[in-house]
Amino acid sequence: MSKNPLIVFEGIETSGKSTSLKKAIKYLKKNKIKYITLREPGGTNFSEKLRSLMLNKKSKLNYKTDLFLFMASRSENFDKILKENYKKKVILIDRFVDSTLAYQHYGLGLDKDLILKMNKFLLGNLKPNFTFLNVVNKRNLVKRLNLRKNINKYDNFNYNFYNKVQKGFLKIASKNKSKYLILDSNKDNLKIIENKLINKIENILK
Ligand code: TMP
Repeated sequence: MSKNPLIVFEGIETSGKSTSLKKAIKYLKKNKIKYITLREPGGTNFSEKLRSLMLNKKSKLNYKTDLFLFMASRSENFDKILKENYKKKVILIDRFVDSTLAYQHYGLGLDKDLILKMNKFLLGNLKPNFTFLNVVNKRNLVKRLNLRKNINKYDNFNYNFYNKVQKGFLKIASKNKSKYLILDSNKDNLKIIENKLINKIENILK
């Protein structure tokens, strides 16, 4: 696909997204492949500051304000990190443009076209080469949400919200199937998921 692809890890809370990202990093390190990794919201120092403001449990910022802050964080990442590394190193991102559509549009009902336009305005032709979408079923989601400490503002929603967000992610993936792999922790055990992930990464890096 590309020697230095931009690979994104998406999925709702408790879906196993972070575990997938860690496995990918382990693989790249083991094979001495140059990469950078960042998370959204977060990334540059400024974007990390925005992250702690907006995800703070006590934040009273409204969801439209949050949308602009997610975008501001992305804009700084584009300018200070992504632009100079795009196609030069493998880039792994923990959440990216699909999270904004899934959470802000499918979850919170904010305008889809506005979000698409803002992303285009910020990123121009920069696009993920591939996205791993981690999914979780209702039983596991409810169980895992109950076990989870509410660490941030976006951890506080109920099952219905996350269900809408996950359906949103699946809808986005279904429109561009060749660029997504769905990793389903309900169907497959961790080892099988890891194998699928690594096989796909090997394939992408060819
Ligand atoms: P996480 O980094 O622990 O996954 O948490 C980040 C939270 O931010 C998560 O609940 C999803 C949310 N988020 C959005 O709502 N919109 C976005 O565009 C991004 C990048 C994250």
